[in-house]
Amino acid sequence: MEQNIVVLDFGSQYTQLIARRVRENKVFSKVYPYYVPFEKVLADKPQGIIFSGSPANIYAKNAPIPDRRFFYCGIPILGICYGMQLLSHKLGGRVHKSRKREYGLAKLRIAGKSPLFAGIPKKFNCWMSHGDKLDRLPTSFERLAYTENAPFAAMGNAKLKIYAIQFHAEVAHTEYGSRILKNFLTEVCGCHQSWTPRSFIKESIRKIREQVGNDRVVLGLSGGVDSSVAAVLIHKAIGKKLNCIFVDNGLLRLREADKVEKTFRGHFKMNLKVVDSEKIFLGRLKSVIDPEKKRKVIGKTFIDVFQKEANRLGKVPYLAQGTLYPDVIESVSYFGGPTSTIKSHHNVGGLPKDMKFKLVEPLKELFKDEVRAVGQALGIDKDIVGRQPFPGPGLAVRILGEVRKDRCDLLRQADWIVIDEIKKAGYYDKVWQSFAVLLPVQSVGVMGDERTYENAVAVRAVTSLDGMTADWAKLPYDLLGRISNRIINEVRGINRVCYDISSKPPATIEWE
Ligand code: XMP
Repeated sequence: MEQNIVVLDFGSQYTQLIARRVRENKVFSKVYPYYVPFEKVLADKPQGIIFSGSPANIYAKNAPIPDRRFFYCGIPILGICYGMQLLSHKLGGRVHKSRKREYGLAKLRIAGKSPLFAGIPKKFNCWMSHGDKLDRLPTSFERLAYTENAPFAAMGNAKLKIYAIQFHAEVAHTEYGSRILKNFLTEVCGCHQSWTPRSFIKESIRKIREQVGNDRVVLGLSGGVDSSVAAVLIHKAIGKKLNCIFVDNGLLRLREADKVEKTFRGHFKMNLKVVDSEKIFLGRLKSVIDPEKKRKVIGKTFIDVFQKEANRLGKVPYLAQGTLYPDVIESVSYFGGPTSTIKSHHNVGGLPKDMKFKLVEPLKELFKDEVRAVGQALGIDKDIVGRQPFPGPGLAVRILGEVRKDRCDLLRQADWIVIDEIKKAGYYDKVWQSFAVLLPVQSVGVMGDERTYENAVAVRAVTSLDGMTADWAKLPYDLLGRISNRIINEVRGINRVCYDISSKPPATIEWE
């Protein structure tokens, strides 16, 4: 079993970040909620366990407390913020309830010698975000660092291999934060730092072969990053026993289907079926204006088309999906409660349960940027692994009002120009998404000596970390000017271009 670190989640907003920082140090990590059965963690044979922070405090009635065996299991532990208070509380120290929060940068001073701070200056800035703090160490623990506000900002017991820090080493504001985690991983836990895209690929190929044996696998290829990387990885493992189905729904960007064919059938020599289903999708979308209804129609039609094609293949017991780690992590939420549906998302993977497939999900333990790194290591074109997200329902949610072929063609041309100019200006990788939206209005213009009465498009470009929140991109005026000029000059039927300057929330990234 490969070396790994378990991150126990107590509800911190930074839990996933901890897992990512560990992986950036080339050690595989997994996130479990704090109430995970102790035996399940033991079965992973982790080299170490990290306790995350939490918005809760240790004296709260419902304070999150894990199985007590974690504290005495002999596996090295690093407690962060709440994790430190929890360790201290359980091991005989004392946590002082404080009404004042300490939030922001603090000067940390190292006291004593420890593997945790090996090779790090005696004084540096760290990021604090806590209310309560320690005022007595557990017996046989040493003070390892302090700040003006926190007399015990880090503690450790070399024999038990238990360490804890009051500050957040996982956030970028903490100087040497990544080095502190690396020290924990290598000096305390004895990890080798050998987890890389290549080692992941090798191990995945072995697992895929072991899982599917001689059976066949079907995969719905969308041309997006996740399904593309999953396809190439599975193809590497089982070759022609993988059947990819690409549904061309007529709602794709310009030359998208050609590119998918060229890449996957041409370059990678995969079994790929391109299903031209523009007519059926546009037929079912006729007169549909309501955004949610559009999404439902497209989702259902996709399933119908995919199912029919999959049936043609004969007996295929496995379905591959490009599911990612953030989709499967069971997160601890303190601010949870029922979330309302804002948009019903449609993904290629969202097939109904009654299609009796067993699932192959080779990316389900990776974060998005890791999928990109794996894709690159697999030799997939940067054009595909580095591409911006594109919604499952495609251009349909960027055509306000009825979706018709002529309107799709119009938007495709405008969208192509947006992407082309954004790429030329070097902004494609700097923004989360950039695209055009066709509005359901016409406005008056003048071209030559003629009056025009034509369509308007909105250009949308946003910056974002994960698509959950977003800000409109502050693109240079001359770039916006070039986009506007080209669209109006080159796309017949559009005479006005607007730039969308709303952030999410309260707007969303897509218009529908
Ligand atoms: P919104 O519009 O909700 O979008 O702010 C957030 C992110 O999700 C993408 N998106 C989708 N992706 N299927 C997808 O795979 C969908 O149905 C879908 N709807 C929106 C959107 O492009 C943005 O990146």
